[in-house]
Amino acid sequence: MKKLFTLLFAALCALSAMADEGMWIPLLLQKNEAAMQKSGMRITAKDIYDINNACLKDAIILFNQGCTGEYVSSEGLFLTNHHCGYSYITSHSTVEHDYLTHGFWAMTREQELPCPGLTATRLVKMEDVTFQVLDGITPETSEADRTEIVEKNIAAITKEATKGTHYKAIIKPFYYGNQYFMYINEVFTDVRLVGAPPSNIGKFGGDTDNWMWPRHTGDFSMFRVYADKDNKPAAYSKDNKPYKPLKHFDISLKGVEEGDFTFVFGYPGTTRRYVTSDQVNLSANQENPIRIALRDIRLHHYKNAMEQSPAQRLKYASKVASIANGWKKWQGETLGINRLKGVEQKKAQEDEFQQWAENYKRLRIRDYDYTTVLPELHKNYEALTSVDLEWTYFNEAVMASDFMGRAHRLYAIAQMSNDSLAQLQIRKFLKDNERYFTDFAEHTLVDKAIFVETFEYMHKAGYAPYLDKADLGKIYDNSMLTKKGAVEKFFKGYKASEKSAKKLLADPAVDLFNVAYSYSYTPEKRSQYKEANQNINRLMRIYVKGMMTQYPDSNFFPDANLTLRVAYGHVEGFTPRDGVYYKPYSTLDGIMQKENPDIYDYVVTPRLHELYNKKDYGRYANAKGEMPVAFIATNHTTGGNSGSPVLNADGQLIGINFDRCWEGTMSDLLFDPGYCRNISLDIRYCLFIIDKYAGARHLVDEMTIVR
Ligand code: ARG
Ligand code: GLU
Repeated sequence: MKKLFTLLFAALCALSAMADEGMWIPLLLQKNEAAMQKSGMRITAKDIYDINNACLKDAIILFNQGCTGEYVSSEGLFLTNHHCGYSYITSHSTVEHDYLTHGFWAMTREQELPCPGLTATRLVKMEDVTFQVLDGITPETSEADRTEIVEKNIAAITKEATKGTHYKAIIKPFYYGNQYFMYINEVFTDVRLVGAPPSNIGKFGGDTDNWMWPRHTGDFSMFRVYADKDNKPAAYSKDNKPYKPLKHFDISLKGVEEGDFTFVFGYPGTTRRYVTSDQVNLSANQENPIRIALRDIRLHHYKNAMEQSPAQRLKYASKVASIANGWKKWQGETLGINRLKGVEQKKAQEDEFQQWAENYKRLRIRDYDYTTVLPELHKNYEALTSVDLEWTYFNEAVMASDFMGRAHRLYAIAQMSNDSLAQLQIRKFLKDNERYFTDFAEHTLVDKAIFVETFEYMHKAGYAPYLDKADLGKIYDNSMLTKKGAVEKFFKGYKASEKSAKKLLADPAVDLFNVAYSYSYTPEKRSQYKEANQNINRLMRIYVKGMMTQYPDSNFFPDANLTLRVAYGHVEGFTPRDGVYYKPYSTLDGIMQKENPDIYDYVVTPRLHELYNKKDYGRYANAKGEMPVAFIATNHTTGGNSGSPVLNADGQLIGINFDRCWEGTMSDLLFDPGYCRNISLDIRYCLFIIDKYAGARHLVDEMTIVR
């Protein structure tokens, strides 16, 4: 009985957003204003988003297409994470100027480093365009026609909205297409690197500490946006001036205490809050375990190699960082979902929906029948799941080794009948190939082991019957891909033709790729997957609308879709497991405790020691005289929120979001206020590093600091 009650209660809670759950639309923030103020906020929804006046949203940027940044000076200076700026810091690093290892600080504007390709996007305004987008669609419109009409309408609306301006417009579906919003953006393209701490600060703790609390990573970097003489976006030019943002954040040195209100304002990428039990089960218990097991193999071999020498470590660092990031998150996600009995919770919720739908149909309040949507969803998940699992294996096993990645490129060249296109790809391949053999001379054993073991794993699982008689070791050894100069020789005088393609496909590696690909990506499987997916999307649109009708008084937040959102909560520790309580903030003492000169990720520089020993924290210490480093709060965030400003009750900057706690990583699917915490860098540590550690006081002087 108690169990039933718990499940029912969980189901009820799961329908309306739980305390602190949600990523809210700035334009509609009036709906949350009372709750936010009740939680402690002292500003208004209009201070955060206002169409007519400069407001906090003008201080936020979308950093490329995957991170967030925030302006902290009237001269275009902005902050984001170290891991967001990583590739730009790396690209400016050489052996003589290793900014990645030692840090980089522009002491003058002239020293700021252009970053071609990097964009900083400001949201000018957003608008509900649902009626315009759905114009011409009736209940009888087929899904295919609907897609076509929506696309046509979107093209027309965005064209009209940006006519005669330098703005770019984008329209995105919300609630699976029950609603559409248009975003008018201003995209800046002259963005320059201003500062980055050394790796042993910006990446302190590395992959070991990633997703974990207590955390001590100084995960920030600084950039500046430049604009033309009219303060408008322009391509890089010496004559450009620092951009004058409409708004930049005040920075508070007061810090936060447990229980204090905070909010995060940024660009969360993807959540799947309303999916059914089938999807939760597919993600948590089917996809994740496959991905984790196959990445275990890769990580095992890379980590062994990294321990051989510092040079090897550097070679694999960024590869391992990206493989390990998903690998670790999925483990936390699956554990979290099973701890919450996520599948059962969703099923209980679906039972209730079904009951409600039957009643609703009987009452005939309106003529909409919601009784078939869940059974149909279930049917489509059955069709989707088998292909999905096969493709998960393909992506994580076939594509695991560099060997198959390179074979894939040759396979693509073999498909090209246009010779000039083929030559272009061949040139690119040969260039990379040369680097491959110089950089990865000792790599081949690692890659061979990964190739053999991942394929074997997939074969054992029954997803690669074509391997029954294959000798993987021979394939590896006999391919021209593993012989220096062999591919170069092969492509001498190559001309795209059926005959040359045949020769290329005869290489054992390319042949294996071809067989694996042709086996997994048949036209039948593709259309089965596509059809199921389209149906699921259509049915989810109905299901979500049904849930909104079922609970008319609940405020349903729309899933994250890389549009600007506000998440709010409060600073709070938590109990990850029995007998353990996590305090909500960490300090420099923890860095000293973690220090280990023998482990790369835990090296502490003499300079940081010196400041620590002298307690030379200046105005950046907290009231207890400690140097705060990071803190956790109940704000609902996800990938893309990296670099987002974390703000206090007055809308002042107190931190930079950079991660979530491992025990709460199921929050993309299910939020649990007991476990879900975002991790933020304390802005005081960031300023301490810039000012005291690096001596770049001029950058802090540009900022507006309030006490
Ligand atoms: N977990 C963070 C995120 O998802 C940080 C990733 C980068 N850091 C790392 N050690 N791999 O983006
Ligand atoms: N590190 C993540 C990012 O790059 C944020 C962590 C999360 O997924 O919440 O966006």
